[in-house]
Amino acid sequence: MTDRFIPLVDRRLATTGPTIPSSLEAPTGLLSDTLARPLQDLRISVTDRCNFRCVYCMPKAVFGKDYAFLPHAALLSFEEITRLARIFVAHGVGKIRLTGGEPLLRKDIERLIDMLSALRTPEGQPLDLTLTTNGSLLARKAQALKDAGLKRVTVSLDALDETVFRRMNDVDFPVVDVLDGIETAHKAGLGPIKINMVVKRGMNDQEILPMARHFKGSPFILRFIEYMDVGTSNGWKMDEVVPSAEVMRRIAAEMPLEAIDPNYTGETAERWRYRDGGGEIGLISSVTQAFCSDCTRARLSTEGKLYTCLFATGGHDLRALVRAGRSDEEISTAIAHVWRARADRYSELRTANTTGFDQATRKVEMSYIGG
Ligand code: GTP
Ligand code: 5AD
Ligand code: SF4
Ligand code: SF4
Repeated sequence: MTDRFIPLVDRRLATTGPTIPSSLEAPTGLLSDTLARPLQDLRISVTDRCNFRCVYCMPKAVFGKDYAFLPHAALLSFEEITRLARIFVAHGVGKIRLTGGEPLLRKDIERLIDMLSALRTPEGQPLDLTLTTNGSLLARKAQALKDAGLKRVTVSLDALDETVFRRMNDVDFPVVDVLDGIETAHKAGLGPIKINMVVKRGMNDQEILPMARHFKGSPFILRFIEYMDVGTSNGWKMDEVVPSAEVMRRIAAEMPLEAIDPNYTGETAERWRYRDGGGEIGLISSVTQAFCSDCTRARLSTEGKLYTCLFATGGHDLRALVRAGRSDEEISTAIAHVWRARADRYSELRTANTTGFDQATRKVEMSYIGG
């Protein structure tokens, strides 16, 4: 059987070298972009590889055996990541999430966690240091991650039904191993653990209720994510999105829910709790109810480019500055310059204009930039 061919525009090459203004400035921790959004979260992609081929993220037709992943020398080293992270923290970042690809595939990831967990905010507080994983290696690694200083994990899980799960991950990975990983992480103290389920109509939407029933009353917070038009390789179509309002209706018909307040401004998930005390769920409505106006997230790609939006068309090459021997002050000034100029609000614009909106051509892949 021949694979379907999907043309992929390689946005990894789209880079602008950040400019370093001639007058250098010390970080104040109070950066603000053109829409008055502070810089508070940093997502760091530590590898562009993954052992899954989720249909909505790394479809096999594109990420096949000939796909050219980044060579090791292109990746930021742990020392380079930690140096950049320290500068971001001085600018106001208090939460760091490691992503991928699959971050647990990066060799010696515990060493990076150990290094990052030593960072402190200007007020002397430790970071909210977390990681998003597909759970496949979690049973093996949870204790070492905890020992290295990781606070919590978020696990992606798209179905409980074996056939549906294997169809979603497309590498025949068994669901029981992920459930084991979640339990082990819980026992190791890596909570509160959130479970992220991307819902794609016709693929796994029949799993919404079984997933809700399974995690109701457990220590885990299940979150339903609208399938997004991220990247160009997944062939996204609006009619494959199951709006959060529909997810809510389906669950509430069987298990009544009520809304609860967000944990913090800009939280991606809207929180709901079961009226009978069975815990809470989250709805992440990136498509039907964009949350750009409170978006405080910066992303550092595997090879050290700074992206100011998940849907950005290009990144700012911080690795070039690091490897050119630029000082902390110079890099810090360059980051400040990029953030102050930030005007991204892709999801809001797409929501406002779903017809004729150019969502197809120029975006970077999620496995490269990190979820
Ligand atoms: P907590 O720190 O636990 O609140 O998690 P989080 O919601 O910040 O992070 P997580 O990585 O779990 O995000 C869940 C999902 O929300 C991701 O997998 C994406 O699908 C989506 N998402 C996260 N950040 C953004 C963003 O900045 N823009 C858009 N459009 N979607 C996002
Ligand atoms: N839409 C929504 N979420 C996505 N993720 C990856 N691709 C998409 C997409 N197209 C999310 C998955 C996973 C995280 C790494 O990124 O939920 O939890
Ligand atoms: Fe891998 Fe996560 Fe993408 Fe699935 S969603 S292919 S597990 S990076
Ligand atoms: Fe932030 Fe861009 Fe996502 Fe909007 S689309 S929430 S600006 S990352």
